[in-house]
Amino acid sequence: MPAGTEDLVALLKADHKTVEALLAAVDSTAESAIVEYFCKVREELVRHEVAEELVVYPAFRRNVPGADAVADARIAEQSEAEEALARLDKQEDDPAALRSGLVKLRGNVLAHAIREEQEVFPLLESHTGTEELQELGRRYEKALAAAPTHPHPHAPDSPPGNIVLGPVAALVDRVRDAMKRSS
Ligand SMILES: [Fe+2]
Repeated sequence: MPAGTEDLVALLKADHKTVEALLAAVDSTAESAIVEYFCKVREELVRHEVAEELVVYPAFRRNVPGADAVADARIAEQSEAEEALARLDKQEDDPAALRSGLVKLRGNVLAHAIREEQEVFPLLESHTGTEELQELGRRYEKALAAAPTHPHPHAPDSPPGNIVLGPVAALVDRVRDAMKRSS
């Protein structure tokens, strides 16, 4: 498929692989870098989940008969992940607790991604035409690009040791607002 014409499901699967690779690094990340790593994980997950909630699940509910129960269950899992991130936000002073929380989060997020790949994406794909899948793919990419990024902890105006973790709920709201403005 030529660049720029990838459909939604291909983009989602590629995104899942990126998140999976990022989460695999939790074991090899040094304690001194764990807060910075957590910021990256939080940003990636929030961006991906909000884009799914704005683009994927509305199309899934619209196109697939009887999809609501599955959509509600998957969105509830995403909300749980956001709550877990919010709890971890408060553990920046305890690298060991942050790491073990991230390991637990990884298990839940990967199980959720498998359920999406098995229960959501194939049904969405079989009930949606090629053109619409490509249009949804464009909207999904636009949504991801519109999300504001969290300041990098090592940016010049924010030296190491001066990392401020904002509330996850506020990050979710900012990502959601930016995506809505872009759509
Ligand atoms: Fe996903």
